[in-house]
Amino acid sequence: MEQNQQWSSKIGFILASAGSAIGLGAIWKLPYVTGTSGGGAFILLFVLFSLLIGFPLLLAEFVIGRKTQKDAIAAYKHLAPNTKWYYIGYLGVFTCFVLLSFYSVIGGWIVQYIFYSVTGQVGTGNADYEALFNHAVSNPALAIGGQALFLIVTAFVVGKGIQAGIEKASKFMMPALFVLFIVLIVRSLTLDNAMEGVSFFLMPDFSKLNSESILFALGQSFFLLSVGVSVMVTYSSYLKRDDNIIQPSISIVGMNLFISIFAGLAIFPAVFSLGFEPTAGPGLLFIVLPSVFEQMVFGQFFLLMFLVLFLFATLTSAFSLLEIVVAVGSKNNNNRNRQAWIMGIFVFILGVPSALSFGIWSDVSIFGKSIFDAADYLVSNILLPLGAFLISIFVSYKLKKDILKSELIRGTKVNFLFEAWYFLLRYIIPLVIIIVFLDVTDII
Ligand code: PFF
Repeated sequence: MEQNQQWSSKIGFILASAGSAIGLGAIWKLPYVTGTSGGGAFILLFVLFSLLIGFPLLLAEFVIGRKTQKDAIAAYKHLAPNTKWYYIGYLGVFTCFVLLSFYSVIGGWIVQYIFYSVTGQVGTGNADYEALFNHAVSNPALAIGGQALFLIVTAFVVGKGIQAGIEKASKFMMPALFVLFIVLIVRSLTLDNAMEGVSFFLMPDFSKLNSESILFALGQSFFLLSVGVSVMVTYSSYLKRDDNIIQPSISIVGMNLFISIFAGLAIFPAVFSLGFEPTAGPGLLFIVLPSVFEQMVFGQFFLLMFLVLFLFATLTSAFSLLEIVVAVGSKNNNNRNRQAWIMGIFVFILGVPSALSFGIWSDVSIFGKSIFDAADYLVSNILLPLGAFLISIFVSYKLKKDILKSELIRGTKVNFLFEAWYFLLRYIIPLVIIIVFLDVTDII
């Protein structure tokens, strides 16, 4: 099917794909995984993986989408007719499904925190944030209610369609998030003992790395950039054929890495200064940041603003996750709305056990992990690397080199960039994924 939607402006595409990429990965997940995986060495590895593996893959997905102008499954069918390569698309859709099921749980926590912030339960100076967090995540009605609300907004916006739904708001919300992070960092860095947190976050100590944390860093870089699931194929299919993809991908990777570093610089100094544990896990941000806001003038107001922007960043990622499923399912735009709601309901049902796994189902374990952790592990450390591996092989072995060249560099003279990209995709990326993966299965 030829896509009949198109981005109304280039900035719309950049902001929406950046919106997909920037979300929980940079703001919530990276800090907590860094905390549990040893700090600076993990961050260094994660940045390297993002630049040398995630970035080329992002470009590869953009090439597929813009060239074919088709959704995540049709694109592969078009490029490799009568083969099974389109299963990459189905793998992506399935991955997005599972991903959104637990993503929405955290979205639900943010919704709850907005409520606590409005009612003065956070940010006013006298709360025990660990207790509050435990209550928020373990109470089944609150956890599931928050998740449902988050998914309702997601289905509503995706049902309305790309232009109307996603493009408009990104234009001012993302810059606002950047600014607020800078304010937060300034406050966090001027707390007593802040430098201890900075050095935990940025000084590499390689003795803290092990095979599993290397896999986490790899999975985190895919998660962060939304690659490996063909979401970026679908988004770039709405581009015009001669729109530039190199510059947008640089902005997307750059903005996301900045936000990642910003989040760490906002959180870790405060962790050390205020006596929290860097290994606190999924609650890290929710426990630490309210305490930082408390130390600010107009803290309660800024906290609310932060939560709203954080929710927005999370929603724009969720839109892309549901979008890919809807784009595949609705052959024309007539049933997009219905499809969005149906899929939203399925995602919700799948996500409820994850939501409950912080409370009444916390004892249920799958391979020694809680349901939430197992779902996250499956996506981040198995499905995303697998999708990324297949995409790198597909693009570099299945598509012709000169076609790729003309697609990627479009008349510019940056030949060496193309060669480097091609080399990474063809040799380095598949090899690194295999090595990291096998290394972990070895130790398990
Ligand atoms: N990149 C998003 C984040 O970091 O929060 C998560 C994500 C969205 C991953 C969309 C994959 C995806 F297709």
